[in-house]
Parts: sequence; C-alpha cells; structure tokens
Amino acid sequence: MIGVLVSGRGSNLQALIDQGLPIEAVASNAAGAGALLRAGLAGIPTAVFPLEDYSTREERDLAMADWLGEHAVELVVCAGYMHLLTPGFLQRFTAINVHPSLLPAFPGTTPIEDALEAGVAETGVTVHFVDEGVDSGPVIFQESVAIEPGDTPESLRERVHEVEHRLLPEAARLYLAGALRS
Ligand code: GRF
Repeated sequence: MIGVLVSGRGSNLQALIDQGLPIEAVASNAAGAGALLRAGLAGIPTAVFPLEDYSTREERDLAMADWLGEHAVELVVCAGYMHLLTPGFLQRFTAINVHPSLLPAFPGTTPIEDALEAGVAETGVTVHFVDEGVDSGPVIFQESVAIEPGDTPESLRERVHEVEHRLLPEAARLYLAGALRS
C-alpha cells in the first residue's frame, strides 16, 4: 500500500492514480495543494500537516508517519513534495522521490530553470530512494530528455513531466512487487 506526499498541483499523483496503484493515503504540508483535490476526487483519504502547527519538523513528520501507519502504508512516494523528511520518518518508511533532472546535476527547487540557464544539451528525470539529503539517495531510474532550441521552462517541463508520469508509477509498482529494495 502506498502513501503519497504532495505539495503542488499533483500531476504525478494523478499518474499514480490513473495507473491503478494502491494508494491508501495522501498527505501534504500545504492545505492549498491542488493535489489534495485530485486525491479527494479519487476517494483517497487526505490529511494536511503544516509545519506551523508543530514545534519542530521532527514532531510534524512523526505525526504524519503515525497517520500514514494508520492507513497501512508500506511505501511512501514523494510526488512533488517540497520538504525534506527527517530521520525518524525515514526509519519508519521506505520513500521514493521523483526529481526533474539527471541527478546529481541540478538538485533543489528550480532544476528545469537551472538546466536551461546552464545551456546543457539534455536534462531528464531521476527516480530515487529518499535519504536525509537534498535530492540524494540511491537512483532507481534515470531517463534523459533533450533540450531543444527555443525551449522555455514551460515547454521543457511538459516533456519532463511525461517521463516522470511513466517512471514514478513504474518504480512504485516494482517496489510493491518486491523487485526493488532500498
Ligand atoms: C515534479 O516535476 C517533480 O519532479 C518535482 O515537483 C514537480 C511536481 O509536479 N519534485 P506535480 O505536483 O506532480 O504536478
């Protein structure tokens, strides 16, 4: 069973839903995340754990871990979740993340813009196990996406998303099938 963490519009969550993966719970740090609406439409339980409601990040993550545990989650999928996970959380759950670059190139919050600015010929998508670092952890899949002349952040992001929507569900499916171990 999968628990998905989201912060944004949730196109990767939608891909997981559309591919029929067993999602039992969707949690967010942000009450306004569009992804929560997608989960609601799919009938998946949601909860919001804003950092401001807790005295520490660890406390927030433990509350989130307890809630996911109540929903029988065995794998956590970060699908556009924009906070780091603390060690206590990662001791409870294996987590995977999708990132729109060929890590270790362009970690952080603006990888599409950073790749365009760097003038590289290609960027891509990485799906990886989550550890305590920023966009670090063992790589599961990587696939490159060519940067075309005249690409804007929007046009490049669209092609990158297509790859994300294929690789992230595939990694989750393989993990649940026992074919991937962290
Ligand atoms: C994706 O590009 C993901 O790789 C990054 O944040 C974006 C989230 O998009 N971490 P969405 O919310 O799944 O549409």
